[in-house]
This record gives sequence, structure tokens and C-alpha cells, in this order.
Amino acid sequence: MSRPPPRVVAPEALTAAAAEWLTQALRQALAGGGRCSLALSGGRTTGAICHLLAQQALPWERVDFYFVDERCVPPEHAESNFLLVEENLLRPLSIPSGQVRRMEGEREDRDAAARDYAAVLPPVLDVVLLGMGEDGHTASLFPGNSALEERERQVLAVVGPKPPPWRLTLTLPVLTAARRALFVVAGAGKQDAVRRVFAGEALPAARVTNAEWLLDRAAAGNFSED
Ligand code: 6PG
Repeated sequence: MSRPPPRVVAPEALTAAAAEWLTQALRQALAGGGRCSLALSGGRTTGAICHLLAQQALPWERVDFYFVDERCVPPEHAESNFLLVEENLLRPLSIPSGQVRRMEGEREDRDAAARDYAAVLPPVLDVVLLGMGEDGHTASLFPGNSALEERERQVLAVVGPKPPPWRLTLTLPVLTAARRALFVVAGAGKQDAVRRVFAGEALPAARVTNAEWLLDRAAAGNFSED
């Protein structure tokens, strides 16, 4: 599988480059004057990216917010992806709750929470921010998990090796249909997974074939900085 080479930046430039990419992708999606959808992942870089994104002058009243995955914890829990995005992006921008569709990870019936989330997703997501774990997982689609083979359902409840174990996640058909998607990957611990993705191994992240890649130098290995 061939994909365009990643963009590589210095570690200190990564979050700004990611926020800039998202800003441009959102501008492009909003250019026709309509609404657009933005889906966000959790993970270590998302908070800083959202913090910078919140400083951008965009018609935010026309952006609807979604989640790529969610840990099965209450929304005020420290591990909640919603909390991360709320603190760094939604609250600073005073986004009304009507523009935010969060995954209800706290519900006892996780399968029902997944089905209900599928019912509120737009037909196609405009802009998606993704991360990749050291094992090559993305969203909460972990290597070897049967969720990777899902073709019908758009959202699933899954158990993964990364704590907290229970997660709600978008599936590959939703991620691969997105108009624009960006992986942001940082740190030497990810270097081997990056190498494997670009060598054509079918890691979960590699299966989001439509995505662009932004790496910091440590994650990039032999790829050179631009
Ligand atoms: C999550 C994620 C997950 C994340 C990757 C990378 O909620 O855990 O959405 O897919 O993006 O695990 O996370 P790090 O950047 O923290 O390594």
C-alpha cells in the first residue's frame, strides 16, 4: 500500500503544525457557507492541539463536534476524552452544547451507547484528528481486535489493552470515509509503528488509507524534516 510521505517537524513545532492543518481543513470545509463536522481523538497531544485551535478565528458557530473514541468513564473523569476537549477547546470558545455530540462512555449498556452514537453521526465526517499508539492502534481499534473487521456498524464498544479498557470507537468504514483526516504522532516510542505503517504493514492505523501524517522528528526515524 503506498501513501504520501509524512510531514516531519521539530517536536516543539508539532502542536502548532497540527492546529494549522486543522484550521485550514475546517476553513476548506466551511467555505461553501454550510456547517462542518470535526471529530477528535484523545491522547497526549490532543489537549495542546485543541488549546491552540481555540485561538483561531473561525466561524465556530458552524462547526459541530464529534469524538473518534471515548473511554468508558463519566464525562468529568480525568481519563475522559470529552473532558480533554471540553477544557481545551469547547469551554474556551463557549461552544453551546447543541453543537457537541459526545460518546456516552459512562452508560451501563455500552452497546446501546454505541448504537445511539451511530444515529447522531453525519453521513461523512469532514475533518478528523487521529493518534496512533505504539502498537499501531488508532481510535480504539487495537491490533487483533475483531472490531477492525467491522463493515456495517459505525460505532462499537470494545475492550482494548490500553487503560481504561472499555472504549467506544468509530470503526474503519467511518474513518476511511472522512473528507480529511490527520494522524499526529510524537515521540521515539512510536518510531517503529511509523516505520511499519509506511512499510505497508496492515496495522490498524495503516488501514485509514485516506489520512495524512504529521510526525515529530523523534517518531519519524528515517523520514526527513521539510
Ligand atoms: C485514546 C485515543 C487513542 C490515541 C492513541 C495515541 O483515547 O486513547 O483516541 O487512539 O489517539 O492511543 O495516544 P497518545 O498520543 O497518548 O500516545
